[in-house]
Amino acid sequence: MLGKNPLLERRQRVIGSHSPLFYEQPLHIVRGEGVWLYDADGRRYLDVYNNVPHVGHCHPRVVDAIARQAATLNVHTRYLHDNIVNYAERLTARFDSSLSMAMFACSGSEANEIALRMARHHTGGQGIIVTDFAYHGNTEAVAELGTGFMPEARTTRRVHAFACPDSYHGPAGLGPERLADHYADSVQAAIDDFAAAGIKLAGILFCPAFANEGLLDVPAGFIEKAVARVRAAGGLYIADEVQGGFGRTGKHWWSHEWAGVVPDIVTLGKPMGNGHPISGVVASAELIEAFGAWGMYFNTFAGNPVSCAAALAVLDVIEEEQLLANAVQVGAYIASGLRQLQASHPLIGDVRDKGLFFAVELVRDHHSREPASAESAALVNAMRREGVLISAVGRHNQVLKLRPPMPFSRDNADLLLNTLDHCLGTVERQYHE
Ligand SMILES: Cc1ncc(COP(=O)(O)O)c(C=O)c1O
Repeated sequence: MLGKNPLLERRQRVIGSHSPLFYEQPLHIVRGEGVWLYDADGRRYLDVYNNVPHVGHCHPRVVDAIARQAATLNVHTRYLHDNIVNYAERLTARFDSSLSMAMFACSGSEANEIALRMARHHTGGQGIIVTDFAYHGNTEAVAELGTGFMPEARTTRRVHAFACPDSYHGPAGLGPERLADHYADSVQAAIDDFAAAGIKLAGILFCPAFANEGLLDVPAGFIEKAVARVRAAGGLYIADEVQGGFGRTGKHWWSHEWAGVVPDIVTLGKPMGNGHPISGVVASAELIEAFGAWGMYFNTFAGNPVSCAAALAVLDVIEEEQLLANAVQVGAYIASGLRQLQASHPLIGDVRDKGLFFAVELVRDHHSREPASAESAALVNAMRREGVLISAVGRHNQVLKLRPPMPFSRDNADLLLNTLDHCLGTVERQYHE
């Protein structure tokens, strides 16, 4: 695969060979528009993977807002400026009234870093509970949370994991209520382990959509029970909305709203500036004021007028183009199409969906649910060859991850479903005949 592509060779020479790239044949993308990406040869690809260009690649409204503000003023936040105030007001208005203040950063990792510091400062504890297949970012403290594959998570003493609340792979025959208890007991075990080690609890941090875990079908009642146990032990609930926020899951603006439990701290990122690097933390005035009084927070680029102009334009487009309603309608259409494919393709073990976010879990056997990892990789590459971009996640990379820009249409959905049907057939013939 490697060696014949001059740009790839130059890239590896200057940024190293471990910087991850998608696909057996890496894509050289030069332009984006809406749900489409264009390669250097002018070929068009349907983007069913990227959630950062939330309102569509290069949305003119966002591009214009960035360009105008960049041509007027860009400076840090130690001066008064309307944009950061307007944005913080509009953003916090989208949350429960208890979550009334915002802080800004430049990446999801930084937002989670702030949340950790805030929770640890507020509780006086160090212990953080995460899932046993988590990824929340790349700073040193946040890497400790990365039980999925981050090396720091293997040695830290201040992070304990609970079993991913996974209805598909969990113990069979328990029913939702007992399954929720089963996983809440796993959270309790982490709490007890910290107590036994003499480490005070600071909180639990998870993505309420369990996106990196494979967009899990969480047993009803689990989040309520888990958070209740953490709070009873003195910890905070930190919801990582870096992937699930801004209406991705349809119906609600924030994925934590599905369970109806209001977090103590929410972290935001990826789609917030449609690709412009802005992230944030939303919490109560009490938490944010106490944190600020304890240790002055300043972040040179965070919340600057250009970043906030981009983020304001994203809110405008979500509202004006009614992208949550689109996520609900087109999402339901895609979910139904995926379930039809499941009926005719034995490779599909499970289909999970929330708004415009889909997980298609590939298995070799419906009973044992053995992960079809090689088939999943083959399928992702086959789809790319056919001009549709997807990826795979999960413990064994066996879960197709479909998460397109939000203005995805029914026509786009038909192209996705038809291509998937075709490629599933090809991969099934290749591996299972
Ligand atoms: C759930 C979640 N949280 C946080 C992050 C980290 O965000 P960033 O890469 O912007 O630092 C990611 C990135 O993939 C993520 O998926």
